[in-house]
Amino acid sequence: MPKITYLPLGIVAECSDGETVFAVAQRAKVPIPTACAGKASCGLCRVKIVAGEQSLPPIGREETKHLGNTYFITKLRLSCQARVHGDVTVALPDLTKRK
Ligand code: FES
Repeated sequence: MPKITYLPLGIVAECSDGETVFAVAQRAKVPIPTACAGKASCGLCRVKIVAGEQSLPPIGREETKHLGNTYFITKLRLSCQARVHGDVTVALPDLTKRK
């Protein structure tokens, strides 16, 4: 069973293969901003991929629309579009900026 680690909170949640980082966060009470409830239209649910990039599918068109083609620099993905197929560690950008 894959695991997702949410930084900086340190919350680790198990998930089923193919679940999104966003859906698992909601279940684990990790506060990821949203205005569209996971429908890839608000662009607010971005997270930074810290580890496990190979456990996610390539960035799709919906993500590119919101994030551009700068993943190789920013490592940001839309959590509602990132389906997990292995262990992944993500950071919530809004929380990390508050330090
Ligand atoms: S939750 Fe709105 S784009 Fe992901």
